[in-house]
Amino acid sequence: MTRVETLLWVVLPYVAITVFVVGHIWRYRTDQVGWTTRSSQLLESRRLRAGVLLFHLGFFAVLGGHILGILVPASLTEWAGVTEDMYHAVSVTAGTASGLLMLTGFVLLMLRRGTDTRVRAVTTRTDRLTYLLLGVMLVSGMYATVGENLIGGGYDYRETVAPYFRDLFLLRPDAALITEAPVVYRLHVIAGFLLYALWPFSRLVHAWSVPVKYLTRSNILYRTRGGSARSAGART
Ligand code: HEM
Repeated sequence: MTRVETLLWVVLPYVAITVFVVGHIWRYRTDQVGWTTRSSQLLESRRLRAGVLLFHLGFFAVLGGHILGILVPASLTEWAGVTEDMYHAVSVTAGTASGLLMLTGFVLLMLRRGTDTRVRAVTTRTDRLTYLLLGVMLVSGMYATVGENLIGGGYDYRETVAPYFRDLFLLRPDAALITEAPVVYRLHVIAGFLLYALWPFSRLVHAWSVPVKYLTRSNILYRTRGGSARSAGART
């Protein structure tokens, strides 16, 4: 293994995972007030609604696909009776659909951010870097799924990228597994680790704060100056 390969496929991942964990602890302890989406809904809500919905629906579908394709070993799906052909058909169809959903949402959100003067004004440098990495993840992921697997001859990432990723967490990194993968998969994985390292310092921290209490908490009461209370119909 060359020095550059060790740096890219062993050092970078472990540094990124460490920054991800320690960074979250640091941010939680020092900046709970800033631990938000930094929502720009008050500045513009109509275009935000469609983009956010598509982006997040697509994201959860893509996440499900990654859990099945990367974290679950091929031997387990084979044992469950899923043949390689069956897996390939489902992964390419569902992967393309969910990736397109997320990409469409992302494009809508980026158009809004770039064209609405007030939203653009509250966009920070960290936001820009986050969007750049998300864009690289989306384009490289879609190229892998559509270009390599749907239109191209097909590439079995469950033999290389997936075991490489799992082995990192089993503390037996094996760079040789990924160095042979097509370049678009390698780019996807490197951008992924960079995104994980940036995560705790960005607005992406909101992902860990699902507002579950919204479902059960009582309504907010609005009081007029005179003192009579009116319950808000919607839980805002
Ligand atoms: C470093 C961890 C990750 C690994 C090992 C990984 C691996 C992969 C692989 C192997 C594919 C191609 C599937 C195929 O050829 O059919 C893919 C697709 C994709 N990835 Fe990732 N990925 C990672 C993280 C992410 C993240 C963080 C995002 C977005 C925030 C993302 C977004 C996508 C998208 C949109 C696709 C295309 C749609 C799909 O097939 O689901 N990936 N990823």
